[in-house]
Amino acid sequence: MLNIRIEPISKKKEKPDQNNLGFGHYFTDHMFLMNYTEGKGWYDPRIVPYADISLPPAAMVFHYAQEMFEGLKAYRTADGTIQLFRPDKNIERMNNTNIRMCIPQVDPSDVLQAIKAVVNYDRDWVPSEEGTSLYIRPFIIATDEHLGVHVAKNYLFAIILSPVGSYYPTGINPVKIFIENEYVRAVKGGTGFAKVGGNYAASLIGQQKAEKLGYAQVLWLDGIQHKYIDEVGAMNVFFVIDGEIVTPSLAEGSILPGVTRDSCLALLRSWGMKVSERKISVDELEEAYKNGKLDEAFGTGTAAVISPIGELNNNGNKMIVSGGNIGPISHKLYDTLTGIQWGKIADPFGWTVKVD
Ligand code: COI
Repeated sequence: MLNIRIEPISKKKEKPDQNNLGFGHYFTDHMFLMNYTEGKGWYDPRIVPYADISLPPAAMVFHYAQEMFEGLKAYRTADGTIQLFRPDKNIERMNNTNIRMCIPQVDPSDVLQAIKAVVNYDRDWVPSEEGTSLYIRPFIIATDEHLGVHVAKNYLFAIILSPVGSYYPTGINPVKIFIENEYVRAVKGGTGFAKVGGNYAASLIGQQKAEKLGYAQVLWLDGIQHKYIDEVGAMNVFFVIDGEIVTPSLAEGSILPGVTRDSCLALLRSWGMKVSERKISVDELEEAYKNGKLDEAFGTGTAAVISPIGELNNNGNKMIVSGGNIGPISHKLYDTLTGIQWGKIADPFGWTVKVD
């Protein structure tokens, strides 16, 4: 149990217009911080005003990217309750990432306490408009003032909060995705399964290329053969092929084990649908498309929620999915998942957790 000290902000900021939040533009009044030093453990948990962090220019995170981050959301229900969605899954993934990045473990109950405390402290920032939520971004950075590639001995754990609308400007409308055949995001044995900034840094060149061509995101292929589908970077990906719902399996360790991905699998299975976690090649996708059997494609993620894919471009070969519209399975998943998150429908899985 953390003994969190509180340093309140002297003047609260003005809140942004809830109808124009976009994603990741605004930050609340406070943040949570906690330090770590080898031999001492985690110490000085505190809620302080959201402000710049001062670090030495030689802080190891700037040079060797020893860091990790997470992403989850808090939702305001109709009766004003504020709830989290499966925070235990994010915290479990956080510690799995920490193992891969040689970052010390954080006690899961301390992380949950910290998340609840800071969200509760800034609860007036949790928006109430349809489709909005408070995005929670925990992260850990190596702070040692040292040049040399070694595991750091000092870390800073922070949680910042951002009121958000939809990740894509298109909202729930289908996005266009560019299949990347040149660059790769991750390989087996690398950090693809971990939530680290380096994965996203490696993806930027492909993202830039896709955006220039008018696409929202990149679909990454496996790093060895450039043949099998991995993920979209900001989201995991699902396809409906001839009645079977397919998503790439986690077995190769090159894709992020998404909490929304896992929740969709649980929902689809509970509806008795045929679901497979397996390898899926671009060739299979193109073949299915040619035969009129690629019924739907959609991405899943905390930020992206359920994002229907209306077009896939593979080397100039455009596949228009669901006539460029949202398909019935994507729609049902979106309604059910967000219904549970916003407390509009029953939560049979016990996924939601109140902040107080
Ligand atoms: C999330 O979905 O929480 C993510 O971290 C994706 C990120 C690209 C915003």
